[in-house]
Amino acid sequence: MSTPISIPLLVPELPSPQALLPYLERMHAAQHYSNFGPLVKELEQRLLERFASHSSEPLALCTVSSATLGLELALAALNLPPRSRVLIPSLTFVATATAVLRAGHIPVLGDVDGDSWLLTPATARAAATEADIDAVLPVAAFGVPHDMGAWHAFHEETDLPVVVDAAAGYGSQWLDAVSGTAVFSMHATKSLPAGEGGFVISRDPALVSKIQQLSNFGINLNPGASLPVGVLGSVGTNAKMSEYHAAVGLAALDCWAEGADRRRDRHAALRTRLQAVAPPGTIRWQAGIGAVAAPTLLCIRLLDSRQRDRLERICAARGIATRRWYQPLMARMLTVASHCVCLPTPEATSIAYGMCGVPFFPGMTDVQQDALVSALEDALA
Ligand SMILES: Cc1ncc(COP(=O)(O)O)c(C=O)c1O
Repeated sequence: MSTPISIPLLVPELPSPQALLPYLERMHAAQHYSNFGPLVKELEQRLLERFASHSSEPLALCTVSSATLGLELALAALNLPPRSRVLIPSLTFVATATAVLRAGHIPVLGDVDGDSWLLTPATARAAATEADIDAVLPVAAFGVPHDMGAWHAFHEETDLPVVVDAAAGYGSQWLDAVSGTAVFSMHATKSLPAGEGGFVISRDPALVSKIQQLSNFGINLNPGASLPVGVLGSVGTNAKMSEYHAAVGLAALDCWAEGADRRRDRHAALRTRLQAVAPPGTIRWQAGIGAVAAPTLLCIRLLDSRQRDRLERICAARGIATRRWYQPLMARMLTVASHCVCLPTPEATSIAYGMCGVPFFPGMTDVQQDALVSALEDALA
């Protein structure tokens, strides 16, 4: 008989029914449930204001029904020729690769930086010496933000479009550079949850307008466009955010700052406790994890797969959930890899061998934290 899991990996925190009610009442009164209704517009406006306070340049933003579709439509809106080669990190969630494939392009699976676990401009430059690349889709892995100034310099130097998959990066990833586009997730497990949902933000209003059109089947809704309103301007899909999801997103935004403080403080405190029981040099953290404003996951990097397996076994025996996030690596996932260009990925492979996702959620009790800390202590003894 397997041990029942008593410490889950994560516990989503969504707004209470009471917090949703005012928004649901507005929706009910307006009888507007989808198709760019007032709540979606308000959410877009409030998000835009948040991003504007971190940028000296004007920005444009549109909501979508998920980050996966946001990525797919952002790639479609770039108008790259079919089967263009899009560089992505091999260490990422499957949606990064499937979005590239569904947009009709070829993922080029590249390596990441060994400290930050990110595909950086430096790793992208190295990848470009080994394969032809037409665009880059870096990932803000586990919410660790990218240096958008460095990506802007990369874009200026190479002329390659860059779209950041910032699915887990709300509150940490800003577009403080002169150019840039990023896609965020509002899935229930993310730091700004709407249940399902996402948004795209960019310095390029034409790109955002195109993504919005594609999210509405491709129908033109812009009176200023050359096509009449209501005419199909492109072959899109239905990726609109509903008013129900916008209601949850708005309520989540109302209490975001307080929740983020709690997440950040408790994540840092738990990391400190775990570090304290680990002999020197036996565990490492993703560089930049301290800059994540509202962490939702906790990953420990152990020295090798033997130590990782040992931690997993001990946790399993004690009812503590673990997960090998982003694994197997994209290059080892046959369904995807057979359609990709696979570059050598020594850093991503080394990270994957030692990485173990362990429980983290703001409501973790002292008893639950003690159990995790002693599991690590015993695994490294
Ligand atoms: C890196 C990354 N990209 C994309 C996604 C997909 O986001 P969504 O669930 O909003 O489609 C996720 C979801 O966890 C993710 O981690």
